[in-house]
Amino acid sequence: MSSPTISSSTSSLPPWRSIISGALHRNRSLPASRYLQLATVDQRGRPANRTVVFRGWRDPESQLQFVTDGRSALRESAGTSKAEEIAKNPWAEVCWYFPKTREQFRIAGKLQLIDARSTDGQPERQAAWNQMSEAGKVQFYWPLPGAIRTMEDFGEHELTLAPAADFCLLLLSPLMVDRLELRGNPQSRSRYCLLDNQEWSIESINP
Ligand SMILES: Cc1cc2nc3c(=O)[nH]c(=O)nc-3n(C[C@H](O)[C@H](O)[C@H](O)COP(=O)(O)O)c2cc1C
Repeated sequence: MSSPTISSSTSSLPPWRSIISGALHRNRSLPASRYLQLATVDQRGRPANRTVVFRGWRDPESQLQFVTDGRSALRESAGTSKAEEIAKNPWAEVCWYFPKTREQFRIAGKLQLIDARSTDGQPERQAAWNQMSEAGKVQFYWPLPGAIRTMEDFGEHELTLAPAADFCLLLLSPLMVDRLELRGNPQSRSRYCLLDNQEWSIESINP
């Protein structure tokens, strides 16, 4: 059995980063190629999955950036905020399929939520807010997500330079990346794992 290749440089970008960036580039004609599924585990230990938009990388760690509303999703873990949920269980996995190049990336790692109270990451949170469209910003002033719909208060809102109070930047720090390429027979599959010494191992595995 062959031993895994070790990506030797700890200072450069992780070895999977240019591969995902390449997939993003080759699929750029498809706006939906920036949508991916983010799975978490709720406080009952059950899976929770939703589509989110990839909002770019946060370097130097190559974290994936998303934006989200920090208010409770009112699942069975109602009463706790997203920040509390993530603090209790930060583990998550995204599943990202690129239709044009027919490749799937599953990226597992830990989440970090940057909300209005966070001491770290406010410049990035502000930058993410600046990049939102007006229609996207206004949603952060709408009534509580997931609550029973009673009022029709989904109109316009005066927008400020500062992010809405519930606007959060969500960061995923990858620890494992599994890439499956459907093109070819047999298909190709590789696994990248972050080792304790912060180097990445790369293995070609059976599809
Ligand atoms: C195409 C698409 C893109 C979406 N993008 C986001 C996003 O970037 N951030 C987000 O919080 N929710 C996004 N949503 C909504 C989520 O999928 C989900 O419905 C919402 O966040 C509530 O999920 P929760 O109960 O887990 O909080 C998107 C939905 C779709 C269909």
